[in-house]
Amino acid sequence: MNNKVIQKKEKISFLIIGSKRFKKSTAKAMVEEAKKTFEHVLFITIDKIQIQTSDSGVGLFYKGRNLLSYDAIYPRLSSSDFLLGEAVIKAIEQSAAYSPVNLKAYQITNHKFYTAQKLSNVGIPGVLSTLFISPKFSKLAVKETGFPFVMKLISGFAGKGVVLVRDPSQMNSILDAVHLFEEFICTQQFVKSKKPGTDVRCYIIGNYVLAVKRISAKGDWRSNLSRGGSAKLINPSQEMLDIAQKSAKVLGVDLCAVDMMDKNGKWVVIEVNFMPGPFMKYLGDMVVHEWIQFIKRKVLLKKKKELRKEKKAEKKI
Ligand SMILES: Nc1ncnc2c1ncn2[C@@H]1O[C@H](COP(=O)(O)OP(=O)(O)O)[C@@H](O)[C@H]1O
Ligand SMILES: [Mg+2]
Repeated sequence: MNNKVIQKKEKISFLIIGSKRFKKSTAKAMVEEAKKTFEHVLFITIDKIQIQTSDSGVGLFYKGRNLLSYDAIYPRLSSSDFLLGEAVIKAIEQSAAYSPVNLKAYQITNHKFYTAQKLSNVGIPGVLSTLFISPKFSKLAVKETGFPFVMKLISGFAGKGVVLVRDPSQMNSILDAVHLFEEFICTQQFVKSKKPGTDVRCYIIGNYVLAVKRISAKGDWRSNLSRGGSAKLINPSQEMLDIAQKSAKVLGVDLCAVDMMDKNGKWVVIEVNFMPGPFMKYLGDMVVHEWIQFIKRKVLLKKKKELRKEKKAEKKI
């Protein structure tokens, strides 16, 4: 007997807009999972999209079809997709489609300093951060942080744009190199946690939080999986839950990941990820599954509400 449960597919169309830097394994897993749940699923990268404004409003076109007619659209974009990314997300925001993210969050999370600023404005604990372009201002920044400190390229990702600066001579040579490329720099106090190289990622999935502890590869202080780190599920503390949920709320997103570190016994936010990877090597398709199920619930709820509204309007006529 075949015990396999065949899931009922919902009459929902779902579109994933991938970054130019999209990861094939993540996209594949998301599409496979989505196809089990939704009747129609499409994944395309942002460079395939054309935006058009006309008297009837904005349209996102792919092969002549307006993509804004999809029930749900999840743009998974990064800083490398800017400009077009902003326009695409704005168009989605103005459409009737459900999206788990928004333009404001895209702009803030892709700028490490804005993130720190935004979160600190509402009292979410973070790390002392400074933003400057000229190496001249480094002295002021160091006065606050001391050595070692962390230097971050504003739109760095996957641990590639973060450097640990241990002394003044190292600082000056790194700053000169960064300045040469006219990159903005954000410096941060180095968080010395009890267990160096570990942090916690909280996946926000609506009201649900899935927490993961990351441990860096031997010899690396960065815990990114793409830098060889590992991950395992943990039971989040109330403090972690409060910080993660408040961060997502202030950004107005249903899906994201909030990364935090233990600073002298208190959790502080390091980064909020707009398009987090689902850590499939360690978690399998767990995160992807939760994402898709959440989007399904949101769309069904939205459809129900719309139907109720229509019926009310009919009664009035
Ligand atoms: N201020 C800090 N103090 C200590 N470690 C840090 C700090 N900022 C970042 N890290 C480490 O570096 C990793 C990458 O930094 P992050 O800001 O998340 O950049 P990315 O976008 O490249 O992941 C973090 O996961 C953490 O392990
Ligand atoms: Mg990170």
